[in-house]
Amino acid sequence: MSASPAIIRRIVTQRQMKPKRLHPWPVRVMHWANAVAMITMIGSGWGIYDDSVIFHFVYFPKSIVIGSWAAESLLWHLAAMWLLVVNGAAYLVYGFATGRFRERLLPIRVRDIVATVRDTLHLKIAHEDLTVYNAVQKVLYIVAIGAGVSQVVSGIAIWKPIQFSGLISLLGGFQGARLVHFAGMSILVGFLLVHVALALLVPQTLWAMLTGGPHLTRRAGGHR
Ligand code: HEM
Repeated sequence: MSASPAIIRRIVTQRQMKPKRLHPWPVRVMHWANAVAMITMIGSGWGIYDDSVIFHFVYFPKSIVIGSWAAESLLWHLAAMWLLVVNGAAYLVYGFATGRFRERLLPIRVRDIVATVRDTLHLKIAHEDLTVYNAVQKVLYIVAIGAGVSQVVSGIAIWKPIQFSGLISLLGGFQGARLVHFAGMSILVGFLLVHVALALLVPQTLWAMLTGGPHLTRRAGGHR
């Protein structure tokens, strides 16, 4: 027995009307894969750095680096790099192609940033509507995504300085590229500390990034 066209039409319409989740499954999978890759990159990067430091007063204790010596740290770093690059590229394509970046990260208005900073200073970090990122969150996410891209570009320059000698010159030489790479790491570590602290302070957001979160209404996801 086959379904009548009317039933098929109803099923199709119902599917089309089914509201999206705040964090659809591809975003959740890519977010957590990125977290694993980033944390491995940071820990192993510290191990490589310790072998030939840029700042003589900055060393990372053995207890927090990944890899028991520089060569082992480098193996971890290059292994996690593939996950970071493939997953990061998929996230960027998904974000632009589905309009997620435009919907969730734009627009950013200066007066919204000022209002959010003022609220935060008054310890008002209410996050009752999970479907809208506040202006500061939007800026921080864009900075983190940009820092991730910059890490890959400066990392390639350091990894293959002969093949990418043009890139090395653009970054001010080999030490310049290392400095850019170190600065990107510092921004990402700073972001991660604030990001994880906020996720723990507002655990509904953490739960939403694990399970998908609320269903979105048509106009959700835009403005503060
Ligand atoms: C283990 C560490 C991490 C935890 C616990 C965590 C937690 C979360 C949570 C709860 C959200 C949703 C925020 C909300 O809905 O208000 C989120 C979003 C996000 N996180 Fe993380 N995160 C982690 C690591 C990272 C790392 C390493 C990065 C990148 C460097 C990152 C970048 C982002 C971005 C860009 C978003 C927005 C995603 C989107 O809406 O498309 N996170 N994270």
